[in-house]
Amino acid sequence: MTAEKRVVVVGQGYVGLPMAMRASEVGFPVVGLDADEARVRSLQQGDSYVGDVSSGQLQSALASGYIATTDIQDCMEFDVAVVSVPTPLYDGLPDLSYIEAAARDLGTHLRAGACVILESTTYPGTTTEFFAPILEEVSGLRRGEYHLGYSPERIDPGNPTYGLVNTPKVVSGVDLESLSVVDAFFSALVDQTVPVGSCEEAELVKLLENTFRHVNIALVNELAMFARDLGVDIWRSIDAASTKPFGYMRFTPGPGVGGHCLPIDPSYLAWRVKQHLGHTFRFVELANDVNEHMPDYVHTRATALLNRERKALNGSRVLLLGLAYKRATSDWRESPSVEVAKRLSDSGADISFCDPHVTQPGTASLDHPLVPFSPDELTTADLVIVLVDHPEFEPSIIAAKSHLVLDTKNLLRGCEFAGETL
Ligand SMILES: NC(=O)c1ccc[n+]([C@@H]2O[C@H](COP(=O)([O-])OP(=O)(O)OC[C@H]3O[C@@H](n4cnc5c(N)ncnc54)[C@H](O)[C@@H]3O)[C@@H](O)[C@H]2O)c1
Repeated sequence: MTAEKRVVVVGQGYVGLPMAMRASEVGFPVVGLDADEARVRSLQQGDSYVGDVSSGQLQSALASGYIATTDIQDCMEFDVAVVSVPTPLYDGLPDLSYIEAAARDLGTHLRAGACVILESTTYPGTTTEFFAPILEEVSGLRRGEYHLGYSPERIDPGNPTYGLVNTPKVVSGVDLESLSVVDAFFSALVDQTVPVGSCEEAELVKLLENTFRHVNIALVNELAMFARDLGVDIWRSIDAASTKPFGYMRFTPGPGVGGHCLPIDPSYLAWRVKQHLGHTFRFVELANDVNEHMPDYVHTRATALLNRERKALNGSRVLLLGLAYKRATSDWRESPSVEVAKRLSDSGADISFCDPHVTQPGTASLDHPLVPFSPDELTTADLVIVLVDHPEFEPSIIAAKSHLVLDTKNLLRGCEFAGETL
C-alpha cells in the first residue's frame, strides 16, 4: 500500500496512539481523532501521556505532519480509518456506545473505495452486525462499495521485547477485497500479518487470548491460596514447573487482575455466548469469581500479619507499593490495588500509595496520597504490601527498611525480610 493514503486513527489512547505513531513513521499522512480535548491539547503540544510513546517520538510525528484533533472535519477524504475506542462494560454488559459514536462520525466522510478497520476488543459479530450497519446508514454506501475489516490489537504495554511492529497482526475483512486492503495496510506497519477467514474469527482470536490468560491467572491464584494452607511454597513449584519445555506456560499469582482487558474482555465473550446460545460460559464465571476475590484475600492476609505483631489494621499505616495494574505501566484502570486499598481503608487503615509510573495529576480521584519510593516511607509504615513488581522497587531496600511486608508478587525472593509472600 502506498504511503500517500490518508490515515485516520479514531481514539488516541494506549492502543490508538502507538498505531498513529507507527503509521506516521512509515510515511502515511495521519490524523489522530480523539473526543477528549485535554488529550488532544497534550498531543498537539508534543506531550505524550502513553508510556509506550515517548514525547520525542510524538514530536517527530508532529514534524512529519501528524495532526491531533477533536474535529471530524479534519478527517475528510480519508482512505483508511482505524478505530481504537474503548469497549467497557456498563452494568456488566458490553457498552458499544463508543464504537457507535465512531461509526457515526466516520460514516459522514466514508467514500466508495475507502477502508474502515475496527480494532477495539469486542465480541464476535460486532463488525458485521453492529458497526457496518451504522457506517452504511450514515454514508449511504452498501457492503462491497467500501472496505471493512477487523484486526485485534495485541499491544502489551510496558513489554520491552514485543511491541506493535514485531507482534504478528491478525487481520480480517468482510470479503476478499477488504481482507486484501486491510492486509496491505498492516503489512506496511508490522513485520508479519496473519490473515483469517472472517471478522468473527478475528474478533474471537482476541477474546480467546485474553480469556486464556484470565483463566490461567485464576488457576494459579486459587492454587496459591490452597498451597499456603497445605504448607507448600507455590512460587518454587511454579519455578520448577516452568522448566518444562512443552505443555506448560508460566503464570504467577497476584492481588487480582486489572487494566482494560482481563477484567472486561472475557465477559464480552460470556455475554455473547449467553445472549446467542443461552449457555453460561462457566470458565469465565469461575475465573471472574477467583480473580475478583483476590483483593479480599490480600486484606485477610494483611490483617493476620499485623495481628501476629499484636497490631490492628485499624489505625495502622499501610504503604501499598504499586497502583498500576501491572509492572512498568502507568495504567491503573480497574487496578486491583484500588480494590485492596478500599478494603484496607474500610477497616480503618491509613493508606498511602507509591508508584513511580503514575503521575500525581492523574490521581485526583484517589482517596489516598501518592508518596515517593523512599527508605523513609518504608520505615514509617506498619505494613508494606508489594502489589506490583515495578523495576524501580529495589527488593533489598524494601527488605532492609520495612518493619513488616506482605509480598504478593514474590519480588523479595532471595532477600531476608520480616513478613510473608502471598
Ligand atoms: N490498553 C491495552 O492494553 C489494550 C490492548 C489491546 C486491546 N485494547 C482494546 O483497545 C480499545 C482501546 O483501548 P485503549 O486502552 O486504547 O483505551 P483508551 O481509553 O486508552 O483510549 C481510547 C481513546 O478513545 C477516545 N474516544 C472515545 N470515544 C471516541 C470517539 N467517539 N471518537 C474519538 N475518540 C474517542 C477516548 O477519549 C480515549 O482517548 C479497547 O477496546 C481495548 O479493550 C486495549
